[in-house]
Amino acid sequence: MAEKRENWGSKLGLILAMAGNAVGLGNFWRYPYQAAKNGGGAFMIPYFGALILMGIPLMFVEWNLGRYGGKYGHGSLGPMVYLQAREGVSPKTAAILGGLAGAIALGVTVLVNSYYNHIIGWTLGYAVQSITGGYMDPAVSTGEFFVNYIQSPVMVFTFWIAALVILGLAVSGGIQKGIEVLAKFMMPTIYIFGIILIIRTLTLGSPVNPDWSPIAGLNYIWSPRWDQLSWTAALAAAGQIFFTLSLGMGIICNYASYLKPDDDIVLSGITTVALNEVAEVILGGTIAIPIAYTFLGEAGLSAGVGLSFISLPNIFKTMAGGQLMGALWFLLLAFAGVTSAVAMYNYVVALLEESFGMGKKKAAFAVFIMYIIVGLPVALEPILTKTADLAYFTEVDNWVGNYLLVVLGLIEVIVAGWIMGNKNRDEMNYGSYWKVPNWFFKAFIQFLTPVSIIILLVMSTKTFIESGYFKFVPDFIAASPQLVPWVQAGRLVVLGVLVLGFIQAYKTIKDKYQVELESGKVSIRK
Ligand code: PHE
Repeated sequence: MAEKRENWGSKLGLILAMAGNAVGLGNFWRYPYQAAKNGGGAFMIPYFGALILMGIPLMFVEWNLGRYGGKYGHGSLGPMVYLQAREGVSPKTAAILGGLAGAIALGVTVLVNSYYNHIIGWTLGYAVQSITGGYMDPAVSTGEFFVNYIQSPVMVFTFWIAALVILGLAVSGGIQKGIEVLAKFMMPTIYIFGIILIIRTLTLGSPVNPDWSPIAGLNYIWSPRWDQLSWTAALAAAGQIFFTLSLGMGIICNYASYLKPDDDIVLSGITTVALNEVAEVILGGTIAIPIAYTFLGEAGLSAGVGLSFISLPNIFKTMAGGQLMGALWFLLLAFAGVTSAVAMYNYVVALLEESFGMGKKKAAFAVFIMYIIVGLPVALEPILTKTADLAYFTEVDNWVGNYLLVVLGLIEVIVAGWIMGNKNRDEMNYGSYWKVPNWFFKAFIQFLTPVSIIILLVMSTKTFIESGYFKFVPDFIAASPQLVPWVQAGRLVVLGVLVLGFIQAYKTIKDKYQVELESGKVSIRK
């Protein structure tokens, strides 16, 4: 690349931005209901197992991929994977692997954000509704309120577009003046709001039933129940690790591409994991679950996705200081969502910059329009069909948010551990404050991590088939035939983005490394 690549302005800014990337709706909205749904204490065992087997090693792999690609001027995954893969296989094969990785990364960043931006919109809307007392009306249940909300064009569009504007402005500002500034403000705020909410939660007492208390709620999550361990819980836990650490989507790699070639990777990667896990198991686990348990007992935890938007508002209605707590809760969710969505947004902008030579502002505007287009079906389905199943959202999330992430993680670790091999370990340790020991590289990155991801993929595919996701009319909408077209549209969109993503990534690699593809020899080195 002719012009100089942007860099992070400070170590603190980098770490907060990376933590912001990982700490998201996954920590506060998704984690509590996943843990509750999968047996609480029985979930935590595979959760920590997956963190060690897959989360931490993949975090190193992704930081390394990003820094390496950034040295050659790349911010998107296709060329990054090509550069590492060409160390062990022919440039042609490497380009195909790069194409596949680029396709999935684009699919995940574009399509996860297509619904993720909506959830941020809802959280902003609900923050306002908490302050104005919107859902406090005793005559309207919070379930009805939520359905009315997602069926109201004014509500949905106002806050969704507001979220997109915040994201667009931050990305246009650039790495240092946009993303870093946003992270330096929002990340500390998330932890502060989280601590305030925890204090309030732990002082709730037992207002409803002497057996229901915040501590009983924590006990539910933290008592290991080995006998309840199941594949379902294990898969959910491993999927949560990918989702919460932002792994398998290219956005950690993208942020790492703005490192300098000798910046630390290993300690910084571990720090990102640690900050995310504190936000997840301590903050995320000590707010929603104990609140729901205190007011509703174990039954309160069965709310699934509705835990944050239906159960908790119901409790904020009756709890002393509920309006303020509600506002803090939804703002915390909004900030967590924004600092992650901005990373997905920046990924697509970086891709447009590097592949089409677009300027940052223009690219940011193009992505703004694109996010409106890809987000429209999510917004319109409840409004037009007067349903609240969110079938399009669910179908797209099943593919990109649960499945393709894991496939991409597998490609990355195979390229790092098996194809690039020991050179990858040396590259990882280059400039790092802590070094990855040889035994760790061999035991984890070359063996345990890829093998556990393969097991995860095989078992997930099996459960996908069993739960009827592969059927023409998947089981989850069997009772609502009017939603069939929405599900099929979701599938077509996923497929379309993957195909376009492959062509784009392959072409970018070919344009830049044509001589290598033709000669079969690696000649371009930095
Ligand atoms: N890690 C972030 C979260 O927990 C962002 C993310 C969302 C990453 C979806 C991957 C997939 O919300």
